[in-house]
Amino acid sequence: MKLLKLGGSIITNKAGWKEANLKNIENLAKSVAKAWKNSSRDWVIVHGAGSFGHPLVVKYKINDGVKNTAQKLSFALTHDACMELSVLVCSALNAEGVPAISIPPAMIITSKNKRIHSFNVELIDNYLKSGYVPLLFGDMVPDLELGGSVCSGDQVISYLGKSAEQIILATNVDGVLDDSGKVIPMVTQSNFNEISKHLKDSGKKDVTGAMAGKLKELLELETPSYIVNGLTPERVEALMLGREALCTKVAKK
Ligand SMILES: Nc1ncnc2c1ncn2[C@@H]1O[C@H](COP(=O)(O)OP(=O)(O)OP(=O)(O)O)[C@@H](O)[C@H]1O
Ligand SMILES: [Mg+2]
Repeated sequence: MKLLKLGGSIITNKAGWKEANLKNIENLAKSVAKAWKNSSRDWVIVHGAGSFGHPLVVKYKINDGVKNTAQKLSFALTHDACMELSVLVCSALNAEGVPAISIPPAMIITSKNKRIHSFNVELIDNYLKSGYVPLLFGDMVPDLELGGSVCSGDQVISYLGKSAEQIILATNVDGVLDDSGKVIPMVTQSNFNEISKHLKDSGKKDVTGAMAGKLKELLELETPSYIVNGLTPERVEALMLGREALCTKVAKK
């Protein structure tokens, strides 16, 4: 299994409310399709929720428990919005000839206190074996302790990453940047403390920790991952094909 995340910061306008960026979605779909047609197979694609997730979670206050009926309705509305975005991404991939199938995490993941507790990975594996491209996304999922919780696309990547051979995360920056805006080529557990001074708080635009949250999910994995700018989709395509591109490599050591 190979993993590609399409960040919510590229496929949506994160400052808006349920605003998709169709041009960016199309451009990414084209590059992914080129790599896929160039025999780069076995990909599971995960997309972020962007403005179809984060602002709803903040507005409805469902980041710390979904207990009463009003919160359950908010869970439903947020899940629905995430699926709406997924249909757009899935249709764009299908239009380019990639047989993507959108699989809502709400149907195959259960969390416990915000961390994935069970995950029907067999379903994903079966789709992969049959030649499809499973498309997962940041979603609301049932939670054994909290009633419901956010499961970020980054957490899905981190979970599946334990058995992945290649991991790429496309977001709206060239990689992890230092204070002068230069790309930090490599982040490891040993330099994480040092580079964390460059990680800015995303305010309320990202309820799962933006770049800092992403790095924490990735630094535990045995397989290295690559954070690349999805606004230059040719870089995503290059990495998918095992070629070099400007990015940050994240590795345990
Ligand atoms: N030092 C840093 N280097 C790079 N990005 C940083 C840094 N500090 C904070 N960030 C923020 O992290 C953001 C990327 O994380 P974010 O979670 O918002 O993107 P995403 O994963 O594409 O979105 P989503 O979570 O919706 O999928 C960047 O847009 C930037 O604003
Ligand atoms: Mg994020």
